[in-house]
Amino acid sequence: MFDRIAPTYDLLNHLLSLGRDYAWRRKVTRQLAGAGPLNLLDLATGTGDLLISLLRRCPAIAKATGLDISERMLDLCREKLRVQGLAQRAELVCADASAMPFPESAFHVATMAFGIRNTANAAATLAEIYRVLKPGGMALILEFSLPRNRAVRWCYLKYLRSVVPWIGAVISGDRHAYRYLDESIEGFHQPEAFSSLMQQAGFHAVSVIPLTLGVASIYKGTK
Ligand SMILES: C[S@@+](CC[C@H](N)C(=O)[O-])C[C@H]1O[C@@H](n2cnc3c(N)ncnc32)[C@H](O)[C@@H]1O
Repeated sequence: MFDRIAPTYDLLNHLLSLGRDYAWRRKVTRQLAGAGPLNLLDLATGTGDLLISLLRRCPAIAKATGLDISERMLDLCREKLRVQGLAQRAELVCADASAMPFPESAFHVATMAFGIRNTANAAATLAEIYRVLKPGGMALILEFSLPRNRAVRWCYLKYLRSVVPWIGAVISGDRHAYRYLDESIEGFHQPEAFSSLMQQAGFHAVSVIPLTLGVASIYKGTK
């Protein structure tokens, strides 16, 4: 599916989030302020918007690896890294986030934006993230969530169920993908449940930062 929608992915991301996705990724990046030299892994890196934001704003990142299961998304990421002069600091790997080709304790930080919801088993992916992080390493996961306020949630669900699939279908030509977006957001763990899942995977000091009335959340956890 991501191979199919790759060419219009960035445009729809910015349009459907009304540009808020830039701020959400910047907020993830800010969590690394003041960190020492880092070996960073960005999971489900897609077309690379989070990876690029991290590389541009965090000089502490000595080396970054972007991992994604879609070759087509990685092709677009590779080109964006080249154009922005960041290709030297990043390596791209095509693999499944729930079975990564990396040894234990390889990375100081693992980030994942809007990816864990798409993996077949979120718990298995979290266990794998835990495995590849160094002791004391940090996981930063950005994912959609549903607003707690009932009125806001009602309006947001209307938007998600009606407007998003329609605009998505017109621009990407793939109605299924943007119906899936709604279904996967509604079907995914909400902040309390996802925080528990992170704790069950072994993470401690788990915290949640709600974004834009709760339509997205950043989850932080330490190995
Ligand atoms: C919604 S996009 C997010 C891309 C990017 N992180 C961003 O913020 O724009 C989800 C990405 O997850 C990737 N993906 C889905 N399942 C995956 C898996 N099991 N392992 C690795 N990547 C996966 C897709 O190929 C897609 O590029």
